[in-house]
Amino acid sequence: MNLELIDAKVPEIQGAVLVLPAFEVKKGSNDLQSSGLDEVDRVSGGLVRELYRTGEFKGKALEALLLHRVYGLHTPRLLLIGCGEREKLTPALLGKLAGTAVRTLKQKSLMDATLYLDALMAEEGNVAEIASGAVAGDFEVHHLKTQEKDDKIFAQFRIAMDGGAAMLQGAMQKGKILGEAQNYARDLANMPGNLLPPRELVEKAKELARQTAVQVDILYRSRMEELGMGALLAVAQGSEEPPFLVHMVYEPDSVTSPIHLGLIGKAVTFDSGGISIKPSDGMEKMKYDMAGGAAVLGAMRAIAALRPNMRISSFVPIVENMPSGKAMRPGDILKSLSGKTIEVLNTDAEGRLILADAITYAKQQGCTHLVDAATLTGAIAVALGYEHVGLFSNNDAFSAQISEAAKAAGERFWPMPLDDEYKEYLKSDFADIANIGGRWGGACTAAKFLEEFAGDTPWAHLDIAGTAWLENPKPYMPKGPTGVAVKTFVELAVRMAHRS
Ligand code: BES
Ligand code: ZN
Ligand code: ZN
Repeated sequence: MNLELIDAKVPEIQGAVLVLPAFEVKKGSNDLQSSGLDEVDRVSGGLVRELYRTGEFKGKALEALLLHRVYGLHTPRLLLIGCGEREKLTPALLGKLAGTAVRTLKQKSLMDATLYLDALMAEEGNVAEIASGAVAGDFEVHHLKTQEKDDKIFAQFRIAMDGGAAMLQGAMQKGKILGEAQNYARDLANMPGNLLPPRELVEKAKELARQTAVQVDILYRSRMEELGMGALLAVAQGSEEPPFLVHMVYEPDSVTSPIHLGLIGKAVTFDSGGISIKPSDGMEKMKYDMAGGAAVLGAMRAIAALRPNMRISSFVPIVENMPSGKAMRPGDILKSLSGKTIEVLNTDAEGRLILADAITYAKQQGCTHLVDAATLTGAIAVALGYEHVGLFSNNDAFSAQISEAAKAAGERFWPMPLDDEYKEYLKSDFADIANIGGRWGGACTAAKFLEEFAGDTPWAHLDIAGTAWLENPKPYMPKGPTGVAVKTFVELAVRMAHRS
């Protein structure tokens, strides 16, 4: 998608479609609360007010109405998209609005649009979110359908304003980078287990490193054995596919900050459950059990482009979890890289095993702050549905920083508890810790397990099992991978670099 930010007044706007955000207007009110809408209403001889008056258009969030040949406009079509009440407008909603515009128009093979922002809306945060939302809205999951035409890529998306576009080019660029990073992560998460086994995901990571000049170090099985990554290795041992740990380092131009942020992402390219095998119903979804790792790679891509002034490393343990004659068994006791022993009571609780060693390794590499993203538990979806990422942390200040970053990035995170009582759920009679905590509080006990390995290092865990995949399409997003956490990771990195 080609993005452009231009100065133009409403009647001058060229191209196939003019897109206008339109607020919810109180019944009987004559105030459209938008100079763009006022202008269209004026040149068209009262069309917009007429639509509101008859109730054909209400301005509800993401309500879309496509009109033809509106008098006084240069564009042959006008697309009104609702954005709810003006007082409640957020950059995130404008991002969704841009995505809705792209998806609505694409369905009708209209691949060229200009979204007009009035002077009140033309500011940095809005422009960045609109750019990222438009790019994210262009994402499709049909690459592997042979009959589907691949020309369904939106050609040109312009953001127009009455003046000052030059000042906001940077914001648009940032949004574009974020949207593309999100889509990159979604493409990876959508790849099935046969087409993206660990060795192929590693190739993707290497390619990313080549393209971005981020340093990369790949740990192979032999190195893991030398180091003693017994937990990570055990998960991989049932598969024909060897495990990898992708370690990337982004170095800023000058290191002035003492902070070294470590991003960690679970990448199980397919999770069958292992010997504690999953029911076959829905097992195909476990191709996205690497969405956390994909989000980390996507974030590194954007970070390399935005160049925040802070050292940032990433750690992505990559495995396939399979049952076989060589697979780890329930009852096995593993020695993790930290030295702690782990009793495996369920081989389907594999994410925490690979993360345990990745977290320990990240600390050994000198990271001062850690955040992991993982499709870790079905229980987080029981707790929060598909709406919120579960946010766990051993450090309130760090957790607050992450919440703020998420808010700015338009992603919904919800703080979850990590009380010491949960530790008792993980008691093992035979090892230092068990890898499951029983029936209740599954997302909390999984997080508590990880905390054991994070220790005192400020750390946060994002359980994205409920949010990494969208089951019911939204006007701005098709069914499939969401790329959740990419934007928050990048926003967090930029903010931490700025503060320190
Ligand atoms: N990958 C799954 C979690 C998951 C579930 C991700 C649904 C996405 C959607 C994870 O490895 C797993 O199987 N967790 C188990 C833990 C249990 C054995 C304690 C679960 O959630 O059932
Ligand atoms: Zn599992
Ligand atoms: Zn899993």
